[in-house]
Amino acid sequence: MFPVEIKQNVYWVGAVDWNIRDFHGYSTYKGTTYNAYLILDDKITLVDTVKNPFKDELINHIRQLIDPGKIDYLIVNHVEMDHAGSVREVVDLIKPEKVFCSPMGHKNLLAYNLPEDYPYEVVKTGQSISLGKKTVQFLETRMLHWPDSMFSYIPEDKLLISSDAFGEHWATSERFDDQVDMDELMIHATKYYANILLLYSPLVQKLLGEVQKMGLAIDMIAPDHGVVWRGNPKAIIEAYDRWSKQVTADKAVIIYDTMWHSTEKMALAIVDGLIQENISTKIFNLRYNDRSEIMTEALDAKAIICGTSTLNNNMLPRMADILTYMKGLKPVNRIGAAFGSYGWSGEAVEQVTKYLEEMKFTLPFPDVKILYGPTAEDLQNCFTLGQQIGQMIKEQ
Ligand code: FEO
Repeated sequence: MFPVEIKQNVYWVGAVDWNIRDFHGYSTYKGTTYNAYLILDDKITLVDTVKNPFKDELINHIRQLIDPGKIDYLIVNHVEMDHAGSVREVVDLIKPEKVFCSPMGHKNLLAYNLPEDYPYEVVKTGQSISLGKKTVQFLETRMLHWPDSMFSYIPEDKLLISSDAFGEHWATSERFDDQVDMDELMIHATKYYANILLLYSPLVQKLLGEVQKMGLAIDMIAPDHGVVWRGNPKAIIEAYDRWSKQVTADKAVIIYDTMWHSTEKMALAIVDGLIQENISTKIFNLRYNDRSEIMTEALDAKAIICGTSTLNNNMLPRMADILTYMKGLKPVNRIGAAFGSYGWSGEAVEQVTKYLEEMKFTLPFPDVKILYGPTAEDLQNCFTLGQQIGQMIKEQ
């Protein structure tokens, strides 16, 4: 690929990872990109690096523009390995005059065993540096995505280089939002928020407020993953506002695993009850659906209903997986319910309920638990549960 000029004298020089399918447990079925940006000014500045196996691609892109040895500054907006994984090789090659990072960035680069004698320059929110014609202002964005994360803002270009925020995992030959299908773009952006940033929603709200208060004029957002928001940066800012407020729709997500289809029959009866109430419903058999796809649908679901058989006195392992994952991502203000079949001891449903309680879901209806196979009456009870949840969704 080639470097792409995103603003005058600001170039995308990152790498496209077409083949990654698992990003620490998140299914990246259409790959991702590791974006890095090169600013050509009196002080030539590289913003971020890339995941280590892609360092040659980064260097090759830089070489198409300048001799890498001419780079004066390196800005490390985030130390996670998909962005800082080639800092060592890049610093060795370019020997920068300064390496800018946040206070936590400095601490964490050292924790990743990078040399202490690099020319680190620690910067905090509100500090800025002049590159010549352009300025870079720094804004610490702790926990978005790690404690070290920060934004780099170029006021002369109204350009926000936003690290992980506003990104998506999607490998494309196009570099801008207005070159790709907007509907597909928003699907990837939604999945990214649901699986990476949802738990930090209160901080996202705070950050959006801070950006507004600082009066940053933004006409382009350049994240470290996916496309650059050039045509419609407002769309992703508004989506982040909505997602971080955890605005939900009249929608239910049913998640289940089943041994001999009894729990599955219960799930389908609950779905029928919800549909009867005209609730948009998504159903996921954990055997066939990835946790990150489920979380994407759960992002705006008002009700999350979980069913599992009991195996060896426990819930089925896939249910433990999704509940652990979901609990970590902290969805709030949801209606929950648990159901399942069992053979003799039947602990699983109570275990699921405990998880839902720990997530502070509203649990207005008793668990539905049946012995072995569901009778017609059991299925009617499940149908009724679906209807009751559906009615409650509509009332809220
Ligand atoms: Fe894309 Fe938090 O790294």
